[in-house]
Amino acid sequence: MEKRIQDFLSEISIFKGLSYQNLSRLSGGFQIKEFKKNSIIFYQSDHSTDLYIVLSGSVKASLLNEDGDELTLCEFKKGDFFGEMSLIDGKPRSATITALEDSRLAVLTRARFIELLKEEPSIALELLGALVERLRIANGVIESLAFLDVEERLMRFFCAMIKECGEKDRSGNYRIKRCTHRELAARIGASREAVTKALKVLQFRGLIKEDRDGFIITHKISPEMPNIK
Ligand code: CMP
Repeated sequence: MEKRIQDFLSEISIFKGLSYQNLSRLSGGFQIKEFKKNSIIFYQSDHSTDLYIVLSGSVKASLLNEDGDELTLCEFKKGDFFGEMSLIDGKPRSATITALEDSRLAVLTRARFIELLKEEPSIALELLGALVERLRIANGVIESLAFLDVEERLMRFFCAMIKECGEKDRSGNYRIKRCTHRELAARIGASREAVTKALKVLQFRGLIKEDRDGFIITHKISPEMPNIK
C-alpha cells in the first residue's frame, strides 16, 4: 500500500523533486480517508490544518452564504492537493470541501509537512508555483464577475468544460455533460433564476441547446475565444 502511495506521490507536482528516502518516509506519514459522495470533508472556518491529496474521486471547494447560495471555487481531481492555505498560515479553512463522488483522500498533518519542508526546501518552491497558478485562475474569476454578464460567464464556463472534457458530435458541435441550473449558478456566481434566463437567451440565439443528456454548444464558438457579443 505504502509503495503504491509512494509511486503516486512521486507524480504530484509539489513532491516530484523529493529524494527516494523522503518519498518513502512521506508515504508512511499519510492517513487514508474515504468519503461518500456529497459528504463534507471540512467546512469553511473550521480549525484544522491537514493537507489533503485526492487519490481517487473528486471534491469541490465552495463558499456558502447564510441563505444557502453557493459559489464553487474549483474542483480537485485525482492527483490534486488542497488544504494548503490553513496548512501554511494556521488560520481557519477558507472554503468548504465536499465530495462530488465517492473519494479516497490521503491526509498529511501540518507537523509532518513542516518537518519535510525543512529537509526538502524545494517543496516550498513547487508549492509557491501551485499557489500562483491558483491566484491566476482566481483573477480570471474576479475578472469575469466584474466585467461579464451572466450569458458571457455561462459561455466561458461551457468553453472551459469543452476544453476539459467536451466531446464533438458528427456535425462538429460540442457536447458537455448535464448539470443543473443551480450547479451552473454556483460555478459562475449567479442566481439560479439568472442562469435559467441566460440559457434561454443563448438557446434563442442558436449558441447552445439543452437536452436530457446535457448541453450542445455550437461549433461556431471558439472554445479559446468565447466571444458572443
Ligand atoms: P484551506 O483554506 O486550508 O481549505 C480550503 C481549501 O480550498 C484551501 O485551503 C485551498 O486548498 C482551496 N481553495 C480555497 N480557495 C481557492 C481558490 N480560489 N482556488 C483554488 N483553491 C482554493
